[in-house]
This record gives sequence, structure tokens and C-alpha cells, in this order.
Amino acid sequence: MTAPLWYKNAVFYEISVRAFKDSDGDGVGDLRGLTEKLDYLQTLGVDCIWIMPIYPSPRRDDGYDIADYYGVDPVYGSLDDLKTLIDATHQRGIRIIMDLVLNHTSDAHPWFQAARADRNSPYRDYYVWNDDDQKYAGVRIIFSDVEKSNWSWDEKAGQYFWHRFYSTQPDLNFDNPRVQEEMLNVVRFWLEMGIDGFRVDAPTYLFEREGTNCESLPETHAYLKRIRRMIDSEFPGAIMLAESNQWPRELIQYFDQGDEFHMAFNFPLMPRIFLALAQGQASSIKKILNDTPAIPANCQWTTFLRNHDELTLEMVTDEERQLMWQEYAPEPQMILNLGIRRRLAPILNNDRRKIELVNSLLFSLPGSPILYYGDEIGMGDNLNLPDRYGVRTPMQWDDSPYGGFTTGAPFTEPVQGEYGSQKGNVADQLKSPNSQLWAIRKMISLRKQYAAFGGSLEWVETGNPAVLSYMREKDGESILVLNNLSAVAQSAHISTAYQKTGRDLFSNQSAAISEQLNLDPYSYHWIKLLPSATS
Ligand code: GLC
Repeated sequence: MTAPLWYKNAVFYEISVRAFKDSDGDGVGDLRGLTEKLDYLQTLGVDCIWIMPIYPSPRRDDGYDIADYYGVDPVYGSLDDLKTLIDATHQRGIRIIMDLVLNHTSDAHPWFQAARADRNSPYRDYYVWNDDDQKYAGVRIIFSDVEKSNWSWDEKAGQYFWHRFYSTQPDLNFDNPRVQEEMLNVVRFWLEMGIDGFRVDAPTYLFEREGTNCESLPETHAYLKRIRRMIDSEFPGAIMLAESNQWPRELIQYFDQGDEFHMAFNFPLMPRIFLALAQGQASSIKKILNDTPAIPANCQWTTFLRNHDELTLEMVTDEERQLMWQEYAPEPQMILNLGIRRRLAPILNNDRRKIELVNSLLFSLPGSPILYYGDEIGMGDNLNLPDRYGVRTPMQWDDSPYGGFTTGAPFTEPVQGEYGSQKGNVADQLKSPNSQLWAIRKMISLRKQYAAFGGSLEWVETGNPAVLSYMREKDGESILVLNNLSAVAQSAHISTAYQKTGRDLFSNQSAAISEQLNLDPYSYHWIKLLPSATS
């Protein structure tokens, strides 16, 4: 496990430990449960798992409100259980990263409790206080459905405190050198335990400055670079992955000269995959990738379709958002903040063709793909649950009443009906070569088998705006990818330069690339050109 650039072409898998597998029958998923399921993840072919927060927390934001940065919430197990999990993942050649929440703590954190109780406490200055709620006016509110201001009055403190997320998540004051040191120590603690890096939660908001939007400020980048320097010198090979929902030109500042983040989620691309599908047109995907500047050689994008949050639509125009709401969130309760709080399969009406097509894009476009647990088997969501909890329901392992997730009563109401565990589960799909799970597993294995998917991207003109076609290439290996984004059959016109012989990697049949290729609705092809044909 020493390859320093391992993350540049790796398949990631995001897991809610709470919802993955319960080992002791208390109805809540735990670290031992996850450890039991590592064989499944190995068969799926993932290279790195990302576990959502497991720290002690009052869970006002599912653990993104941390009350102790150095512990594991007993409901998930112990530090020893985590150590066992880390060792077991490493034994299988899989890496493991966890969430690092720098921007804010829980209001139950002892620092905040001390801060609000006493103006003279050394912890007072760990947070951002003000006598009125007018400072930093105009800064956008992220959880706009619930919060009306980024300031909340604290009776005990007799002042307002600043928070970019829920009012139960006070922002830390990174202008305080002690806060900076505290968080460096947190990073050290987990890396010493063997964690391979962090998905850094909300790194955009660390510092505040009057007259700015308080996002991606130079001070914020400087501090993030400081963490990176420490990691590089003390824990080389560990990674930082940025969760920053920004336009490409701001987003690439998180890579800077290759001395800040190793990776960043490609937030601008994600909604455009769904937009392109809704429009039956390839242009929005092409445009965003053309507008995205090159990144340093030691950096990589993380591409994704869904995650544990709403499918955020901040990075599209108002018109595009309307179209996507219409198409993918026809009922008002499906919308949250500006996004869509649904899982992949229901968003795409459980249409296997569409589900496979967007996965074809995920696994064949540049960047390291990340899967959200359960999406590989087409899990559904539970809209009866509030906020984003509807997409964090128990993993469906088999067709037993609680889907094999627990022998007790599950911590939340599982998904029923069309998407319930009777209809879709790992055990059944593993048995059936026609299942979605097999299709995804095949894509992952091809993606890993062919180095071209970690290589260059070149658009291939087809004369047809419904077809997104590109060549992936590395070290003389060339793969032509064709995706028909429309609901009707389309033909692609291929210029003579590409009219070669190849092999369709899914059917394993030889494929002659002729002047005109006919593509079924929502179909995709990955065609490896024969070596002789590329010279
Ligand atoms: C990130 C997380 C989200 C959380 C928020 C506040 O956006 O993905 O789930 O609510 O940060 O920590």
C-alpha cells in the first residue's frame, strides 16, 4: 500500500456505517458489521471506502455535528473496532478514509459549552461571536429550508454566534491559532491510527472576512495548505479530498499548485450528467468539461452521481434547475434546499437503461469515481423521513424482513414496496448475471483493467448532439466510448480517422467502427481499438 498516487485512478465507495450492517442486533449499523461486509466490497472491486462520521455526536446532523473529535460513538463500536476495520480493509488491499469536519463542532462539544458559559474562558474565542447579527451581511444561507440567518442568539453567552449550517453547528474560529493547532492534532490522531486520509467536510467556510462572501478566502486556502504540509511530511500517501461545491475556477484553487488538496469532488459535472439526460443532449457535459482547467499531475477529480446529501443544484442556472426539478423531483417533498433528496434509481424511474447509462459516464469519464452505498443494487429512498435521512436507509443484503441489515428493529423505517429488500438486495443480485449489481461490477472491473480510463480525454464528433462520444487513451491503449443520451435510437457519424476495428468491452464481440453507428435508446458502448489500429 505504498503507491503514492493511488488515488488518481481508484474506485471509491461511500458508506453510512449506521445504515450498512448491524452486528449486534441493536438495530444500528456498526464498525464490526461493516468489517463483516468487506468481502462484498472486495468483490465489487472498490479501492477505497469513505466512512461518514462515527464520532460521538448528538446527531442533529447525522454526526456532522461532532462532540468529541477523538472518539467513536459507542453505538458504532470502539476505537479498537475501528482499528480492526482499518487493518481488515488494508489486508484486502482496500484503503479507508473518513470525514474530517473542520468548519464547525456540535453545540454539545465541551469547547462550545465552555465558550458560551464564560466570556473569559479560553474557549470563548474558539467560536465566532458578535453583539448583533449584521456582520458578514449577504453571505448565503446553505440550509435555507431551515435556517433564516447565519447568526443565532445564544442566551447563555449573551451574544450571537456564527454558523454556516444548522444553528446546532457553531463555526470554529480559525483566526484563533489554538483552533488551528487543535485541528492539526485531530488530523494526526486518525492518521496515526492508520486512516488513509480524509473527505474534508465543508472546507470552503473556515474563515470569515467582512465585505466578502466568506467562501474560499485566501486565509482558508493557507490553512488547508498547512494541513497538507503536515500530512506530506508526517504521513505521506494519505489524502485530502475536498467537498467544495463551487464553479470550476474556484474549485481548482483547492488543488492550487498540487500543494493543497489531492482530490476534489467534481460538483459542477454531477448535475450536468442528469441535465444532459433530461435534455437528451450531450452539450452541457462537454461544456463543463471544456470549461474546467487542467489540474496538477498529482491531483485528481472525484466524480459521483449521488451521495448522502440532496442532489445539489446550486451549480446550474435557474432555468436548468426548473427543468431538473420538473424531470427528477415532480413532487414538492422531493425537493430540499435547492436540491433533490432522492436516490439514483428513483430519480431515474428505476429505468435500468438510464441507470446504466449514467454509470457508464461515471466510470468512463476522467476522474476517480465514487459510488454511494446501495446505488449499485438500485436502492430506493424513503421520503417519509425528514431532511436527507430518506437516502440513508439500511443496506439491503437479502430478502429477509429487515433486508439482512439487522436481527433487531432497524433504527429507521426501511424502504418498502418497489424498492424494498424483497425486490432488490445483494444476495439475489449476486446470483443473477442480469442484475444491476453485475452490470456495475463489470463496469468497475473494466475501468480497473484498462489504463486508458486513467488517461487523456478527447471528444469524438458524431454529428449528433444526442450522442456523447469520446476517446480515452493511455500508453497506446485507446477506448472509444459512445453514449446515447436520448430516449430514441440515434446514429453516430464517425470520421475516417476513427473507423477502425475494435472490441466492444461489454459484449466482448468484435466491433467494426464504421461511418455510421446505430445506437439504441440510452445505450452505451466502450470499444477498445485493436492495438494495430491505433498506430
Ligand atoms: C457537508 C455534508 C453534509 C453536512 C454538512 C455540514 O455538506 O455533506 O451532510 O450536513 O457538510 O457538516
